[in-house]
Amino acid sequence: MVHMQARRIQAGAAGNCYPAPAFPLRLARFLLLFCASAFHDCPLAPFLRGASEFVVFLVYSEFKFMADARRSSDETRNSNTKADVAERLGTVLASTYALRIKTQNFHWNITGPNFIGLHTLLETHYKELDEAIDVVAERIRALDAVAPGSFAAFAEMSHIKDAPAKPPRETVMLETLVSDHMTVSELCTELSTFADDAEDHATADIMNGRIEAHDKAAWMLRAHLAKA
Ligand SMILES: [Fe+2]
Repeated sequence: MVHMQARRIQAGAAGNCYPAPAFPLRLARFLLLFCASAFHDCPLAPFLRGASEFVVFLVYSEFKFMADARRSSDETRNSNTKADVAERLGTVLASTYALRIKTQNFHWNITGPNFIGLHTLLETHYKELDEAIDVVAERIRALDAVAPGSFAAFAEMSHIKDAPAKPPRETVMLETLVSDHMTVSELCTELSTFADDAEDHATADIMNGRIEAHDKAAWMLRAHLAKA
């Protein structure tokens, strides 16, 4: 029975192998049983047989304790990692939302000789950000966390500053948006690596798509900036 229990523990914790100390222990047990058999007339024979089983029981109890502790530690780490990924997704969500509002603000308020081109480009950008917001929020829900969705929560979590009350010049608007896109791209890059480490490849894939989108938006804005 002790052997069966030990096999189950080892099968769960480290494949079908016996632990390294198992062989000397089995040898010691064999010697104890051999002595008990060889000196079966001796009054100590039952004691030797009992001692052999007791040694095995003690050592395999130790292995069971170690296996249980390792399993408990793994479960805690997995749970924490999932919650950590969801929390970082919340930061990306809030920052993307803030950038979406700022982009629409500039779409409304931009002026200058490039008005039509930039007005249209910024509309394309805020609509793309709109779709991304939904994808990121739904990934948070898929991780069993609550998706933040209020101005107060976004203001607290976002890495993007609000647009100033007085609309800046066209060039400043473009520079600000380039910088903001790069900030969100960096957040997504960090989370992509973090999620991959946590074996959450779905989140990493979403973040990789967001990095591409933010880098592309920044490139388009920079191209207009070079012309301005
Ligand atoms: Fe519009």
